[in-house]
Order: sequence, then structure tokens, then C-alpha cells
Amino acid sequence: MMPANGWPDCNRNTFPLHYAVFRIDCGMDFYKDFAEEYDAMHPRETVYEQQSFFAELISRYHITSCLDCACGAGWHLEMLHRMGLDCAGSDLSPDMLALAKKHLASTGIPLKCEDFRTLERSWKGHRFDMVVCLTTSLPHVTTAKGIATALRAMRRRLNANGILVVSNGISDKLLDIKPVFIAGPTFEDRAVYFFNEYPETERAVFHVLIVSKTASGFRHVVRSMDYYAMRKDTLHGFLEQAEFRDMNYYGDFAFTRYSKRTSDRLIVVAQKPR
Ligand SMILES: C[S@@+](CC[C@H](N)C(=O)[O-])C[C@H]1O[C@@H](n2cnc3c(N)ncnc32)[C@H](O)[C@@H]1O
Repeated sequence: MMPANGWPDCNRNTFPLHYAVFRIDCGMDFYKDFAEEYDAMHPRETVYEQQSFFAELISRYHITSCLDCACGAGWHLEMLHRMGLDCAGSDLSPDMLALAKKHLASTGIPLKCEDFRTLERSWKGHRFDMVVCLTTSLPHVTTAKGIATALRAMRRRLNANGILVVSNGISDKLLDIKPVFIAGPTFEDRAVYFFNEYPETERAVFHVLIVSKTASGFRHVVRSMDYYAMRKDTLHGFLEQAEFRDMNYYGDFAFTRYSKRTSDRLIVVAQKPR
């Protein structure tokens, strides 16, 4: 029955906007028809703000090649290609990959539609000095088994001494505070808001609301994302299990040491043993 406020009936643990939670484990492409909106939320300029971080990694670890295994719209690949790396990219979402193909048309970077848990299907015989999985892509896999499989698949694509770089917007601080509302980025013609639920210890559901101006008023787009809510210690355990070593944790792209209390990002650089 529809209550008086007009929202569909929902139990008290469920935010009213929670009309559809997309889980990648079910094979559902939750970036379908959302790629353009995502790209507007995370434009090219914000990715290029990470350039000096990657320049330092390239020099420190003698990197010459890179696989972005959740490449999204492709801006990291464009940046790393311009920085002189031999790049390749894959992503599970055909819509995101279509955008990456458009953005990277002139680069010749090979792009494949592939799950990062099964990278050997598309990249068998290929090895890279660096594999990246950025901007909260890994937590889209919502099971411990899936995360373990993904990290093993990423390690197998690395050369000896190669590095894996993972960046997540879910940090210990966020999981301690459990903010229900986060005001996201704003642009001239749109604003982004997050309404969050934390239904289980290792699960977070983020409802993204994008409000954009139209000629006659406003347009609303809502997407709900189901995440594996990974703390540093959990991620560390998974990396050890996948036989990575020398894990270095940062709280931002300026190499600030990760703090469970204050960091808004959880970034790890982990090395594949010789
Ligand atoms: C938040 S976006 C990040 C995209 C890009 N890395 C960036 O930094 O803008 C998450 C991306 O992960 C991809 N993704 C989610 N699960 C995946 C999986 N199992 N294998 C490969 N890509 C996946 C999505 O399709 C989406 O493009």
C-alpha cells in the first residue's frame, strides 16, 4: 500500500530512495545507462589531479606498462599513456567501455570487456609492471571469495616485482562514522549527493542522487551501489592471502600515510614477489 507521503512502502532499515540495488555479483551491469552520468561526476580533470602520484610510482618502481582492470571511462589510461606507459584496459560494463573507447580512440590502447576476477580470459600471455583498480572499483565485488579471486587474478597479470594499486573511497574513518548523507561534488549544471546505508558489518549501500538543471527545472537520476565495506586490515588480509608483499597504505594521492582515524581514502600499493 502506498503511504500518505507518496513513497513506496519500505521497512525502517531501508531509505525511501532504495528502489533498486545493483549487485555486480548477480552479473547486473549497474553502470548501464549511467556511464555518461558517472563521467560527469568524475571528469577527466579530477583524474589528472593524481598525475604526480603516478609519476612518483613510475619512477620508484621502474614501471613501463600498465593494465587498468576497471578502466571505466578511460581517463587514467589516457593519463598513463601520455606519461609514456604501454597501456591496456578492461572493464565489466559495456557502457563504460564504450565511453573509454570513445575517449581513447586516438591512442591505440587495447580495451576488453572483462571481469577483473577472470583477467586471464582476455589478457592471457600479457604481463604488466603495474595493475590498477581505482576509485572504489574493487568493493563492487561483494563477497570475500570474489575479492580473493580478483586479487589473485590481478597478481597473475603482474611481472615479478610489479605493483598493484587499489584506491577506495571507503575508509576506516567512513565505516566508523557511518555518515548517512554526504554532499558530493558540485558543478555548474549539477550536484551529487550520497545517501548511505550500512546494513551489515562488511556491507555499505550508497544511493547516489544526481540533480541536474534542465531548461524547465531539475532532473533527478538515482543509482544504488552495493559495496564490500573493506577496512584496511581486511584489505591487508586479502592482499597477504593473494601473496602480495610490501604493502604501503596512503590516505590520499599526496602519499600521506594512511590513518584509520582521519583518512578519507584507502589507497594501497602492493608488490608481487620476485
Ligand atoms: C567507480 S567506477 C571507477 C572507474 C574508473 N576506474 C575511475 O577511476 O573512474 C567502477 C568501475 O568498476 C567497474 N567494475 C565493477 N566491477 C567490476 C568487475 N568485476 N570487473 C571489472 N570491472 C568492474 C565498473 O564497470 C566501473 O567502470
